Amino acid sequence: MIRIGIIVGSTRPGRNAEAVAEWVRDLAVKRGDAEFELVDLRDFPLPHLDEAFPAAYGQYEHPHTRAWSERVASFDGYVFVTPEYNSSTSGVLKNAIDFLFAEWADKAAGFVSYGVDGGARAVEHLRQVLGRVKVADVSAQVALSLHTDFEAFTDFKPAAHREEAVTTMLDQVVSWAGALRPLRAVA
Ligand SMILES: Cc1cc2nc3c(=O)[nH]c(=O)nc-3n(C[C@H](O)[C@H](O)[C@H](O)COP(=O)(O)O)c2cc1C
Repeated sequence: MIRIGIIVGSTRPGRNAEAVAEWVRDLAVKRGDAEFELVDLRDFPLPHLDEAFPAAYGQYEHPHTRAWSERVASFDGYVFVTPEYNSSTSGVLKNAIDFLFAEWADKAAGFVSYGVDGGARAVEHLRQVLGRVKVADVSAQVALSLHTDFEAFTDFKPAAHREEAVTTMLDQVVSWAGALRPLRAVA
């Protein structure tokens, strides 16, 4: 069965990312067409990139890189749950992406973002970055507003119609993750 990792893109104390990612996971597991697991960056405390060789070489020196590599490699696709920090994604998520290369390649990805403007700028940056590591990013995305999907910017209360947006995004991620299987088999 197709396996999708839901990556929690903030490690900040008091983060909103956790509630958002758990909401996505709870909706996703009801589908039955793929396996969905949370991937919490707090469980993979990577330092600032400390590998001597670029990830494309696949020569990892550190146990923390190997642990992250193994987890990311186990999935066929991803949902990136990302905040918007200074008009981009979080530094911790960008750093985690940079640590690896082949593990991301020929896989599908969708996005759930949040911010004052739905985190749209964070996702645009992520699309650029992930294109470089050969991730196929789907067009549907879930853009949550800190004004209307959260109370006091912190208490996650998504509008009812957001569930349909999650379904559309996951439909695309699961189908592309399956369609790209032959390419992963060659690699
Ligand atoms: C360093 C920093 C920069 C931020 N910059 C933006 C921004 O450019 N645009 C925006 O919509 N929200 C911005 N915010 C608000 C965050 O989107 C909001 O606090 C969100 O909950 C952060 O995600 P997290 O709680 O999961 O860490 C910023 C927050 C932080 C901490």
